[in-house]
Amino acid sequence: MPSDPTRLASLTDSCCAVTGLQWGDEGKGKVVDLITPGFDGVVRYNGGANAGHSVVVGDQRYALHLVPSGILYPDTRAIVAGGVVVDPDVLIKELDALAGRGVDVSGLVISDRAHVVMPYHKAEDELREQFLAESERQGASDVGADPAAWSGAGDKGASIGTTKRGIGPCYADKAQRATAIRVADLLRPDTLRERLRTICRVKNATLGGLAAGVPGHAAPAFEVDELLEWARNAGERLRAHVTDTTYLLHDMVERGERLLFEGANAALLDVDHGTYPFVTSSSTTALGIPAGTGLPSRHVGEVLGVMKAYSTRVGNGPMPTELFDDTGSKIRERGREYGTTTGRPRRVGWLDLVAVRYTAKLSGATGLAVMLLDVLAGFDELMVCTRYRLPDGTETERFIPDSATLEGVTPVYERLEGFAEEVVDARARADLPPRARAYLELIEREVGAPVRVIGVGPERSQVIAEEPVGV
Ligand code: GDP
Ligand code: IMO
Ligand code: MG
Repeated sequence: MPSDPTRLASLTDSCCAVTGLQWGDEGKGKVVDLITPGFDGVVRYNGGANAGHSVVVGDQRYALHLVPSGILYPDTRAIVAGGVVVDPDVLIKELDALAGRGVDVSGLVISDRAHVVMPYHKAEDELREQFLAESERQGASDVGADPAAWSGAGDKGASIGTTKRGIGPCYADKAQRATAIRVADLLRPDTLRERLRTICRVKNATLGGLAAGVPGHAAPAFEVDELLEWARNAGERLRAHVTDTTYLLHDMVERGERLLFEGANAALLDVDHGTYPFVTSSSTTALGIPAGTGLPSRHVGEVLGVMKAYSTRVGNGPMPTELFDDTGSKIRERGREYGTTTGRPRRVGWLDLVAVRYTAKLSGATGLAVMLLDVLAGFDELMVCTRYRLPDGTETERFIPDSATLEGVTPVYERLEGFAEEVVDARARADLPPRARAYLELIEREVGAPVRVIGVGPERSQVIAEEPVGV
């Protein structure tokens, strides 16, 4: 049966979520682009410009950071809800770039309650990472603690390996409250001056303290007038897009319109349920949708959990199935595993179904999208981790989100015969070689959810999607 993206959601009568089940970059952008035509709105609810979602249409590649991946469809409204942290510089650049490529971005709306990633947040993110790396180098004695001991990072140290997009410092200010700026604040610069005066004092003191711990790093000094001018420009540029998205979303669902929630980052990076502290700072699973949008959880409906046919991770933290050999390099090259946001080479490993079993449960995945299956063609054997062995010799099927404990597990693998044939032209499961089908069946059996979408290449049409998603 040929796959028709518009048919995928055609029978849907509720909203649907697309959420990552691993450490990010599973192919969420491609899946959202695939099913958007069946929805009236596509909604980002968490994260910020740390996300990099790729959509490939013909020879055109789009890398979306803050704008929802459904933006390429003019009939679907793109919505950035209140749980997102918005970097105006990145957003404006992204809107201009899309408009320059002929994409209509006029309908994009941004929550007035979304928090703003300010220039000092990015400076702090970068400096904090340098400070942590430096304190590791100094054996941590000068900060009064052993970072490796408290972080569970082992010899990888205490830095998180962030994207340096200011995400952690912005969400921290959201929790701190007095030093936070929201999108609505950008629209009333007159009341901002006083607040920025206090904020500059706090930020310059914090940054000065951190810079003192990084040899050769001068403390950045932020000035009220400069920040105010920046905020005024950002506010004026974004004003036409800003609205109360909570009411907008409620109005849409009351009219019977359907929403597609686009998760950013992924479940193992969730601030509560991921491999803490090597996580991002938001609720990345489908659990984050109600808080991030203002819609009660009963509106979430179907949840499509997106996973790669193998594992990748960017940044620090435990990854039990990581490969350091030629097989890992081969997967990295075949999958072009270099970060969409930072360009960093991604860490690569065999598929970890202990992790996916856990995250599918957390997000309530009703179906799976297994992406980048094409990358695994040509390997003699494929290893799939279904259990972990603990240091005491016992085995478990349960994931262990505590980083220090997870560092100590050994993956227990099922070995499958590899498939030699390229699968990039497959458009139905029946077109796949039997060994590729067996691989997918193992995933379904172990995770307990059906595979609804299969990615066989980066381009929009390189997909197997035989049944509607969201029914
Ligand atoms: P996201 O953050 O989850 O949206 O994923 P990214 O866009 O950061 O990374 C996924 C990468 O895989 C991008 O380069 C996509 O173009 C690419 N991709 C997505 N699906 C497939 C697929 O099925 N096969 C191949 N080879 N590449 C894919
Ligand atoms: P998408 O939406 C991959 C990782 C970073 C780092 C950690 C914390 O494209 O899947 P942060 O900047 O958020 O404070 O970094 O989280 N990370 C991602 N890795 N894909 C992402 O997003 C990520 N968002 C954050 O590499 O390890
Ligand atoms: Mg990405």
